[in-house]
Amino acid sequence: MKHLIDPTDLTREEIDSIIALAEDIISNKDKYNEVMRHRNLATLFYEPSTRTRLSFTSAMMELGGNVLGFADARNSSVSKGEIVADTIRVVDNFCDIVAMRHSLEGAPLVASHFSHVPVINAGDGSHAHPTQTLTDLLTIKRELGRIDNITIGFCGDLKYGRTVHSLIKALTRYEGIRIVLIAPDELRLPGYIRKDVCDRLGMDYRETRHLEDVMGELDILYMTRVQRERFPSMEEYERVKDSFVLDPAKMALAKEKMAVLHPLPRVNEITQEVDTDPRAAYFRQVGNGKIVRMALICSLLKWKDDPAHVMPEHPEYFTDPSLHCHNTKCISSAEPVEHLFRKCPDGSVRCVYCDALVG
Ligand code: NCD
Repeated sequence: MKHLIDPTDLTREEIDSIIALAEDIISNKDKYNEVMRHRNLATLFYEPSTRTRLSFTSAMMELGGNVLGFADARNSSVSKGEIVADTIRVVDNFCDIVAMRHSLEGAPLVASHFSHVPVINAGDGSHAHPTQTLTDLLTIKRELGRIDNITIGFCGDLKYGRTVHSLIKALTRYEGIRIVLIAPDELRLPGYIRKDVCDRLGMDYRETRHLEDVMGELDILYMTRVQRERFPSMEEYERVKDSFVLDPAKMALAKEKMAVLHPLPRVNEITQEVDTDPRAAYFRQVGNGKIVRMALICSLLKWKDDPAHVMPEHPEYFTDPSLHCHNTKCISSAEPVEHLFRKCPDGSVRCVYCDALVG
């Protein structure tokens, strides 16, 4: 069975086939009206969300299927202290597929270990957000006509922004990608992605603090919100919250054929004047999010019993009772789970649930 917990759970062929299916759904919408009839999607949202939850709901409804679940865990048994492993073993009796958002990193991975139906990670803490990644890839494809051979600038909160982490991981599947990381020192991309993903795979990336300096080279500018809710203190947030503002003056430095993406919600990092620029693709991106989730639901259910589509093997994972993950935002600190670790090429050990350094 195939779950989607991390973007690297999908091969390049699988990503391309989901994108191709999404493009077919766009061209032949009526063909898909009933394909999920009598099928149920459970949306388990333990953390606030507007567009991700609504786009999953509308995706399943457009396919003729049903949706059940909760948008606020306070109204579920979770408030009585139920652990994720138990919740999923109950919920998988009621549905064919699950989309889970959780503030604890690794919670959807735990769910996937116990579920009899495919689990989709709809965002876990600051860690990963693979369905936003599929949305971003479909948007890049539709805006530029290709995903290979592009220069993409990630700007803003690269530390806590899970959409950035996931998109960079997925881009390792493509050719000729140049990445420019635009962030203040406090919001740099986490070390595990710089070292374990970019350096290890020899990805072409560089870091800068000045958006203006690189604007003219970019095919895609991926703007992000500074993630206030993930900062340890409000003083730290206040210091960096206005680091970058994209306005018409900066847009004037960009290529004529370029696209601005943003996972939304936006706060003040893109001024409203930019919205009317034809290169502002972020509202088109929302529409792509629904279509790509339709394609994902269809694909995971089609692949469910196909031995050609299973989760990647991880022989490098190990358990060691003397090791503990100290990330308080990790599911392994909050619930009784099997503690799993992996050794990285630089010799460091990381928690499999949240990627935090251990030891
Ligand atoms: C993002 C998220 O939830 O991580 N939004 C989304 O899924 N569309 C980005 C954000 O909250 O800033």
